[in-house]
Amino acid sequence: MLDRRAFLAAGGSALAMLGASGPLFAQGAVATRRSVRGMTANDPDLAAMRRAVAAMKALPPSDPRNWIRFAEVHRSFCPHGNWYFLPWHRAYILAFERIVRELSGKADFALPYWNWTLDRAFPAVFAAGDRNSNPLFHPRSGVEEGLRLSDDMVGPQVISRVMMSPDFEAFGSTRPRGQDSLAPQWQRRLGAKTELEFNPHDGVHQSVGGNMSVVGLSARDPIFFLHHANVDRLWSTWNARGNANSPEPLWRNFAFNGGFPGLGSNIRVGDLTSPPALGYRYDDDDSPFAADVVLRSGDPLTEKLRAYRQFEPRLPSRPGGGLQRYALATGDTIEVAAAEIDQIASRERPLAITVPLGRPLGDILGSNAFARAGNLGDRRYRRYVWAVIRDIEPPLDATTRVRVFCNGAALSQRTRLSDPGYATSMSFFGSEHMRQGGMGHEAGHGAASVSIDLTSSLAQMAHPRQLRSDRLTVQLLPQCANSEANVSNIRPRRMEVVIL
Ligand code: C2O
Repeated sequence: MLDRRAFLAAGGSALAMLGASGPLFAQGAVATRRSVRGMTANDPDLAAMRRAVAAMKALPPSDPRNWIRFAEVHRSFCPHGNWYFLPWHRAYILAFERIVRELSGKADFALPYWNWTLDRAFPAVFAAGDRNSNPLFHPRSGVEEGLRLSDDMVGPQVISRVMMSPDFEAFGSTRPRGQDSLAPQWQRRLGAKTELEFNPHDGVHQSVGGNMSVVGLSARDPIFFLHHANVDRLWSTWNARGNANSPEPLWRNFAFNGGFPGLGSNIRVGDLTSPPALGYRYDDDDSPFAADVVLRSGDPLTEKLRAYRQFEPRLPSRPGGGLQRYALATGDTIEVAAAEIDQIASRERPLAITVPLGRPLGDILGSNAFARAGNLGDRRYRRYVWAVIRDIEPPLDATTRVRVFCNGAALSQRTRLSDPGYATSMSFFGSEHMRQGGMGHEAGHGAASVSIDLTSSLAQMAHPRQLRSDRLTVQLLPQCANSEANVSNIRPRRMEVVIL
C-alpha cells in the first residue's frame, strides 16, 4: 500500500521535472546559490540583492512585492513546529529570489546562503553602513553585542546528528498532532520540533536578535533569506545522501494556504521537493540530484517508523507504567513509555525526568545496537531512542538555551557540554508568537513540543554503566545570560520515550 503511494509520489515529481509548467517551475537554466562567505561586497548577486531590497522598500504597500507586505506573508502564514516548516520556507525564499530577479534586472540572480557552521561571524555586508547607505543593513541587538554562535548550536556535531535523522519527520519536524485532513488550518498546528528547527534554526534567529528573534517580524531583516537558504541547503543535502521525503499524502498533497507573490496559487508540498525543478541548486551539491528519493520499504527501520508515525497520537502509554511494547506485523516491536511532569526546570534546579524501563536499556537495545550502526552505517538496522517532550511552557527570556542530558550524573551550572550524557540544546524561537495565539492554540497555551534524539549520546557513553540502568533519565538545564530570577524557567508537561 505504502509502496504504491511512494511510487506514485515519485512518479508525480518526475513528471513535474519533465513537463514542468505553471509559474512555480523554472523554465530556464538552473541558478547556483553560493555561500556568502566567499563573496566580495560587490559580488553581482549581493549587488542585485541590494538593488532589489531598496526597490521593494520603495514600492507602495498596494504592491505585493512591497518589503513590509512581503514580510507580512511570513507573519500570517509561516508554519513552525510541524512538517510544513521546510517546504513552506522553501517556497517563501524562492518567491523572494524571483522578486529580486525581477526588480534588480539580474535574471540569473541566485540567493546567497549563510553557512553558519563554517562561518560563525555575521556576514559583514549585511552589517556595513546604516539604514540609509545599505539596504541590507538592519538593527540587530545580538550582532551589535558581538554574535557568538557556539558549537552546540551550529557546529559539525549538530549537523551530523541532524543528518542521521532516519525519516523526514525526524529531520524536518513532525506532523501536527492528530492531523487527519488536508484542511488549511493544519498548516500552523503543532507537531514536535526536531533538532534542525529547535537548535540551529531557532538558535540563530534568537542570537541575531532584533526583528530576527520575533517570528512575526523576522522576514523584515534581509539576513532572514540567507539564514533560510542555509536551512534549505541542509534539506537538499540530507536528500542527496539518500534520505527520502515523506511519502504521506497528508504532507505531499497539502496545498499552502495564503499565497506567495509570483509563484501562482495552489502550491503543493509535493511540488517543492526538487530544487532543480524550481530553478536552483547549491554550490556544494556534489552528487547527482537526488531530487526525490523514494522511500525504500520493507526494512525493519522503515516499517517501525511508519507504524510509529501513524499511531503515535493513539499510543496509550501509561505514565509511570514502564515500557509498553507494540508488535508490528513484521515481527518487530516499538516500545514506548511515558511520564507526566509537574515541575519546572530552572537554572538553580535542573529537572530530571525519569522513565522506568523494566529492564536494562542495554538489553532492550541489544548488544552493539549502536556500534553496528556506527561501523556499517547501514540505516536499516540502526536503533533509535527518542525523548518526546510535550507542551513546554517556554522561558520568558527568549535567549535561554536549555541543555539536555541523559542518564548523566547530577547536573549543575558547571556541568560541561563535553559530559558524555550531553544530548543537545534547545532554543525557543516563536514563543511570543504562540502566546499571542498566532499558532497552535489548539495544542496548548503557547506550548511547544520537541522530539529529541538521544541515540548519539547513548552511543557515546564510554562506560556501559548507563546502559545497564533500567531507567532512562532526561535532564533539562536552562542557561541564560540574563541573571534575573525565573526568566529562564521552562515547564514541560509530559515526556514519552520511544525506542525504535
Ligand atoms: Cu518562519 Cu526562520 O522562520
